[in-house]
Amino acid sequence: MIPKNKFQAPTGMHDILPPDQPYYQKLYSAAEGIVDFYGFKKIDTPILEDAELFSKGIGLSTDVVEKQMYALRTRGGDFLALRPEFTAGIARAYIEHGMFNLPQPLKFYSIGPLFRSEKPQAGRYRQFHQFNLEMFGEQTPVADAQLIQIFYNILKELKFKNLVVEVNSIGDSQCRPYYKKLLANYLKARESSLCADCRRRAKQNPLRVLDCKEEKCQPVKAQAPQIVDHLCEACKAHFKEVLEFLDELDLPYRLNPYLVRGLDYYTKTVFEIFQESESGEKSAALVGGGRYDALVKLLGGRDTPACGGAAGVERIVEHLRGAMKIEPGPQLQSKGIFLAQLGGLAKRKSLKLFEELRKAKIPVAESFGRDSLKAQLRSADRFQVPYALIIGQKEALENTVIIRDMKTGKQDVVKLDKAVDELKKQLKK
Ligand code: HAM
Repeated sequence: MIPKNKFQAPTGMHDILPPDQPYYQKLYSAAEGIVDFYGFKKIDTPILEDAELFSKGIGLSTDVVEKQMYALRTRGGDFLALRPEFTAGIARAYIEHGMFNLPQPLKFYSIGPLFRSEKPQAGRYRQFHQFNLEMFGEQTPVADAQLIQIFYNILKELKFKNLVVEVNSIGDSQCRPYYKKLLANYLKARESSLCADCRRRAKQNPLRVLDCKEEKCQPVKAQAPQIVDHLCEACKAHFKEVLEFLDELDLPYRLNPYLVRGLDYYTKTVFEIFQESESGEKSAALVGGGRYDALVKLLGGRDTPACGGAAGVERIVEHLRGAMKIEPGPQLQSKGIFLAQLGGLAKRKSLKLFEELRKAKIPVAESFGRDSLKAQLRSADRFQVPYALIIGQKEALENTVIIRDMKTGKQDVVKLDKAVDELKKQLKK
C-alpha cells in the first residue's frame, strides 16, 4: 500500500496524470477542430478577476457567487476571486479592449480551469475545466441554434450516443419580472411544501426553485406557472425561431419548462445537453449555456447581444475513459531511434549527438542513466524503434557511431559527424 502523504491535492481538486492526458487532448483537438470551422478564435483571460465582476455578472444570490466562490484579499487590498466560470471574464475583456469597434459578431473559445467550492461528488469538482464558447454582437436566433449544434457536434465527434438537448426560454427584462412575481406568489402559498433551501430561494430567486431536485418540491414544481406561457412577443418569437432552426438541423431537443440555469445573466434561450442511459436516466449536464443579452451592458459596456455555452471537460473525459481506450503509446513514433552509449567519453559524445538529432527533428529516446549496453538495448526494443545508435568506448575514441537495424541486427559504422545525414537516409527508406 502506498503510504499516506502529509500533502495531498486539495479536496475536490485533482492531478491530471500523464496516462489521462490523451483523453483531454482528444477532447480539445476534436473541439478545436470543429469550432475553427465556425470561426471561433481562442481567448485566454486571467484565472483571478475582481470578485465584484462575478457577483455583478453572475448574480449575488446565485449558489455560484453566494456559496462557491474562492475569494481573497490581496496584500494591495484588492478583492479578487478565482474564476468560477468564463463568461463574465470574457465579457470584461470584450469591453476593456473596445472589441465592440471590431466587425461583429466576435466568436471566442477558451479552455482552462475553473473553481467552485462545491461539495465534491462524482462529476462535481472544486477545480474543473471547461471548453467554453462565446459569441458577441449576434442577436439572431440562428446563433442560439448554431451554438447548440456546435456542442452537439463535438459530443457526436467523440462518439457520444443517446444525447438529449433540453431547451427553454426564460424571457428578458420585459417579461421575466412579471413571471417572477407570479411564481413567487404561487410559491408563497405553498411554502410549507418546499424544502428548506427552496423556502429561501422562493423569496430571493424564485426561478431557482424550478430546478430543485428534492423529492419534496416536485409536486409544487409540477403545478407551477410556466414561463413559456408568459413570454413577451419578442421573446416568444425568438424562442419559436430557435426551435424552428433546431428542427431544421434535425437536432433531437426536448422542451424543459423547468430549465432555468444557475447563473443570473441569462435572457431568452437556455439549454443543457445530457446523455441518457438505456433506462432513460439522465447523466449530469455535459454542456450548459444560453443567451445573455444584458450582461455586457450590466458590466459597463454597450448594449451587446451575446450567447454562449460551456462543456464540462471532466464529465466528458470520464465518459471517454469508459468508452475508448487511448494508449499513451510508445513515447516515439516508429520512425524514432534510440541512442545508447557505453563509458564516460561515449556519454559525453552522445549528449552532443542527442542535440544534433533534436535540431534535425529526428525523434530520439535515450537512457543516459543506464550504463549497461544490454539494458539500453532492451529499452530500445521496448520503444519499438527501427534503429539504435550506439557509441561504445572504441567508437568514442574513433569518433564513430554504430547504426544498428533493430529488426535485422545489421550494424553499420559511420563517422560521428555523418551520423545524422546517414540516419535521415535510412529513415527515409
Ligand atoms: P455551467 O452550467 O455552470 O455554465 O457550467 C457548464 C458545464 O460545466 C456544466 O454543464 C458541467 O458540465 C460543467 N461543470 C460545472 N460545474 C462543475 C463542477 N463543479 N465540476 C465539474 N464540472 C462542472 C457556465 O459555466 C456558463 N458560464 C456557460 C456559458 C458560457 N453560458 C454562456 N456562455
